[in-house]
Amino acid sequence: ALTACGGGGGGTTESGAQLVSDGTLTVCSDVPYPPFEDFDKGSPTGFKGFDIDIVSEIAQGMDLKLTVKDSSFDPLQSGLALNSGQCDIGASAMTITADREQNLDFSDGYYDSKQSLLVPTGSAIKSIDDLSGKKVGVQQGTTGKTYAEENATGADLVTFPSDAEMYQAIKAGQVDALLQDLPVNLNHQQAGGFEIVQTYSTNEQYGLAMKKGNTALVDDVNAQLKKMHDDGTYDEIYNKYFST
Ligand code: ARG
Repeated sequence: ALTACGGGGGGTTESGAQLVSDGTLTVCSDVPYPPFEDFDKGSPTGFKGFDIDIVSEIAQGMDLKLTVKDSSFDPLQSGLALNSGQCDIGASAMTITADREQNLDFSDGYYDSKQSLLVPTGSAIKSIDDLSGKKVGVQQGTTGKTYAEENATGADLVTFPSDAEMYQAIKAGQVDALLQDLPVNLNHQQAGGFEIVQTYSTNEQYGLAMKKGNTALVDDVNAQLKKMHDDGTYDEIYNKYFST
């Protein structure tokens, strides 16, 4: 009963990559976080977005099926979900940081990002210096939270488990501003009623997170990313979500 292959048990690819489920690339993602990950009843995985397209391409290139699981961001970025075998890859607009690299292995960076401050249109808050005594929504475990802790002097930070809950709170007037990744705040701005008043060049790069030590999988994923860059697939996916 403790055999490693088939029957929904773990598996190992020819390259030596360990998988939590044989023949399948199991991906954890904190959804919704558009345009990177969102629900989509019409798609075969049940999800859509930039990250989903990237991991679909990787799964296809590795001859694996793709399963996507909606997961909380904090245990994903801490290493808990990946190191306990809940999934093979965390694809969640996750910034590669030195802290996270202690518990996780990352692919090469696949997207450059920044932080940003979102406020209701017409708010008196124009910059990070106007946040003293203001309620600022941040997401648990994120680089945006860390940035706010270090730079939003005097702000009353309100931590939410997910971006969806932060967005709900600013819509309900429960917080005065949100500090979150720029592309996701841009998405909220486009939906109307909110504006980005400042962006912060934090030089963040998103990476695909994997269990510490699964180096064969990291190598396979990097090879697939390189192939996507070389054959134009990466640009195609990028332009689908970020062309202006
Ligand atoms: N890039 C930020 C970080 O790594 C936020 C990512 C949040 N991702 C998500 N799918 N909710 O901390």
